[in-house]
Amino acid sequence: MNNEKTILCIGAGYVGGPTMAMLALKNPDYKVIVVDINSERIKAWNSENLPIYEPGLLEIVHRVRDKNLFFSTDIDNSIIEAHIIFVSVNTPTKTFGHGAGYASDLQYWEKTARQILKLSDSSKIIVEKSTLPVKTAQAMERILNSNEKGIIFDVLSNPEFLAEGTAIKDLENPDRVLVGSSETESGLRARDKIVQLYSSWIDNERILTSNVWSTELSKLTANAFLAQRISSINSISALCEETGANIHEVAHAVGTDSRIGQKFLDASVGFGGSCFKKDIFNLVYLCRHYGLDEVADYWESVVKMNEYQVERFVLKMLKSMFNTVTGKKIALFGFAFKANTGDTRESPAIYVTKKLLNEMANVAISDPKALENAKIELKDFKENVEYCSDPYVAAKNAHAIAVLTEWECYKTLDYKKIFASMEKPAFIFDGRNTLPHKELFEMGFNVIPLGMPELSHF
Ligand code: UDX
Ligand code: UDX
Repeated sequence: MNNEKTILCIGAGYVGGPTMAMLALKNPDYKVIVVDINSERIKAWNSENLPIYEPGLLEIVHRVRDKNLFFSTDIDNSIIEAHIIFVSVNTPTKTFGHGAGYASDLQYWEKTARQILKLSDSSKIIVEKSTLPVKTAQAMERILNSNEKGIIFDVLSNPEFLAEGTAIKDLENPDRVLVGSSETESGLRARDKIVQLYSSWIDNERILTSNVWSTELSKLTANAFLAQRISSINSISALCEETGANIHEVAHAVGTDSRIGQKFLDASVGFGGSCFKKDIFNLVYLCRHYGLDEVADYWESVVKMNEYQVERFVLKMLKSMFNTVTGKKIALFGFAFKANTGDTRESPAIYVTKKLLNEMANVAISDPKALENAKIELKDFKENVEYCSDPYVAAKNAHAIAVLTEWECYKTLDYKKIFASMEKPAFIFDGRNTLPHKELFEMGFNVIPLGMPELSHF
């Protein structure tokens, strides 16, 4: 028999773990269980060494773990016990069959739904936390309600908008929470229950309710818009380099238009992360499915621009370094897809490293949190790669440094000491435009930023 006050989350990843920690903290009268098929991950959630790095997360976990937040591998009994089940399993891009490269692979979602169906003996609310194609909730509701046990499942969509590195801040104070449901009596009742969970710390005007298709599509569209801003500014960074304009100045001037705003206008080596590319491809696939080829092409170009930007970055390195990096040591500062996370999924650093290795360079990778994940990403590349927790060691005898993640720690290194230890001429390629370019140039570096004039001693 299920317990009205027990919440289960299936999938203890970057989304499930932090979100449930916050829900447990803000709803002490609920018991929250987080399960995962990966027992190592659950073991880590129960230790001092959490499986993901996220500022402020460990403190919250300390406050609620084993009080009303439990990490477990007992998926079956947890399904039986819970009344509300959040599903936060991964939904990667399909690598096989119809829609390969674009559509979401929903096998984990459907498997989870069927497991819930098999084990349940009472009605439950199922909440999509994973980002899913439009109409998934409806499909899942059909599968679940095909049961002959006379029990009812309401499938809701409640996509997560947290960004990695700021997950706790985003969860504590979100711009909005979306809760979508079918507009039946039972759907609306389920929706109220989920709204109630969030309203224990979020104002009601920021909790937006809608039908389930709007919610699903809103999440895909929000990510596509964010990614589009980055591709837009990155496209202009290429033009700045040709014309002598400065991308910082252009972005600032453009962003002062209150209709545009300053956020998300930082030119970079490219966007990464588990969501943007996957969600855009998902959108592209949906558009093609409905015969909207022009719309599909439009959104696909956002990903193409991102690929162009990272490729352009490597080509610039090659060109600046006299068209060859063969046998040269190159230090990468940062491997995570953004600062304050150890996550390397879809990180532009992966592409940069592979390209450099292809050019027979020796790559020394440094990152304060992502070295273990970097090793996994590059497991097929055993030669000419080294991993250095100390950036000074990575830079020693290197011909160039490429800054690929905007970690604070790289801004305050002793670059005089680094310069002295490097081969000359020494280059810095700033893929995040976060270092003090003029100072570095005066120390003797050739500095190649993004979207602004190079500072070269030649
Ligand atoms: C995932 C999705 O990638 C994203 O689309 C969605 O918005 C939220 O969920 P994330 O939490 O970053 O994001 O993924 P990940 O860290 O890979 O976590 C998913 C977890 O689900 C993994 O720990 C995996 O072991 C677990 N899982 C997967 C299950 O417990 N059961 C399964 O059947 C499949
Ligand atoms: C994103 C969305 O922001 C979040 O709402 C959603 O839930 C999941 O996807 P995330 O991928 O964790 O979050 O990080 P985000 O801060 O959006 O950054 C994504 C990528 O864009 C990173 O590689 C980042 O470095 C890059 N970026 C971001 C830029 O290159 N320039 C910018 O101005 C902002």
